[in-house]
Amino acid sequence: MTYETVRGMRDFLPEDLARRRRIEDEARRLFRLYGYREIETPVVESYALLSAKAGEEIRHRMYEFKDLGGRRIALRPEMTASVARIVATKLRTEPKPLRLGYIANCFRYDNPQMGRYREFWQAGYELFGSTRPEADAEILAISHDLLQRLGLDFSIKLGHVGILRGVLSDEGVDEGNQNIVLGLIDRGRTRTALKTLKDLGVQELCLRKIRRLQKLKGSDTEAILAKGEEETRANEAAHTSLIELRDILGLTRSAGVTCQILVDLGFTRGLDYYTGMIFELYVTQMAIALGGGGRYDRLVELFGGEPTPAVGCSPGIDRIALAMEERGLFEGEGPPKELLIVPIGEAQSPIVFELARKLRDADIAVQVEVSSRGVRNALSYASELNFAGVLLIGPREAASGKATLRDLRSKVQTEVPFDEVVRAVKSLL
Ligand code: HAM
Repeated sequence: MTYETVRGMRDFLPEDLARRRRIEDEARRLFRLYGYREIETPVVESYALLSAKAGEEIRHRMYEFKDLGGRRIALRPEMTASVARIVATKLRTEPKPLRLGYIANCFRYDNPQMGRYREFWQAGYELFGSTRPEADAEILAISHDLLQRLGLDFSIKLGHVGILRGVLSDEGVDEGNQNIVLGLIDRGRTRTALKTLKDLGVQELCLRKIRRLQKLKGSDTEAILAKGEEETRANEAAHTSLIELRDILGLTRSAGVTCQILVDLGFTRGLDYYTGMIFELYVTQMAIALGGGGRYDRLVELFGGEPTPAVGCSPGIDRIALAMEERGLFEGEGPPKELLIVPIGEAQSPIVFELARKLRDADIAVQVEVSSRGVRNALSYASELNFAGVLLIGPREAASGKATLRDLRSKVQTEVPFDEVVRAVKSLL
């Protein structure tokens, strides 16, 4: 019997983890720069909370089960529901706008493949308490800044659920059926979506309008928005959404978002809670989105809170890491430079520990040789693991009060008085 990780689950070995931490560090830097306070929530939540507005696709991929107390629970497939729960309850009276951030593992029973795992990590930025397009633009700017700071070349696909929803509402399609139809379009099943609408009694004129809206996409944003305006002139809500999208786009450019933006008026996303602007992040070498988000003005209220408009995004750490690997953006990165201290003979251990403490107090990374191997073996271990240098302490060094410091790059060896070791090692690193 050999033990392996469960299908779709992954171990992260030191090198993998160091790469992921770089992405997380950058995400946290943006928490600080944009004023988002970090929170953590439980991996396990009630199924009712997580499924309320998850959308059909995510709902049926949830790890759902009963705990020993008979509660119907699930592993979170995303974080927005949990954050909205907190805003509806514990942070109900907090001054708005309220900015919250997270880095969290999420679980979806997806078919494991490149960029699709059953446990994956999202960073996230959720902004509560503003209906203004400036809030939408901020979320787009953060998404942009993260990928740009990590060195990726990417584009933003931008839309607004109010356009299709507005057209459908005018035809009398209720919210439940709208969710079904938008979910189908999100999964690329537009034909089935249109057939569903036809079966619901939606007129051919409207179906044609939806088909035309779906064709309105591309980087010539002004032309597309102008055509969209014409197309939705008879639909008030859809038209208002379009104007809002234009405002958001303008502000996003003013906020310094320089990457390519593709407006797509027929674009939908898998989650049912969106009420306004929606977007996804793409790099050319990958067909799946690196991140996504949008506006969800009714979720906090649905969870019993005050009516609270909200907008947010979740860049996916795993897919960002994949894109960075493919672009060679991690190359040349190694572990931080370290020093190995080698006692020659057991009698030297007290001096070795004392020097190690001094060095660590000066914030220098030190490993102490603890397997009592000989100098030659210790040196080859240190070279193999890319240590910057080795400090040798034998009877001769103990007697003279001078350590032998070997620079593993230049192979130069020097004698350093014990009280000058910190300075000498610093200049070697
Ligand atoms: P989402 O588009 O479902 O949105 O997921 C966001 C990101 O999570 C994806 O773009 C992707 O990078 C990553 N992701 C999703 N599923 C997987 C998977 N199986 N394997 C690897 N990565 C995956 C949300 O979750 C919303 N909560 C975003 C949001 C925040 N909307 C408003 N605020």
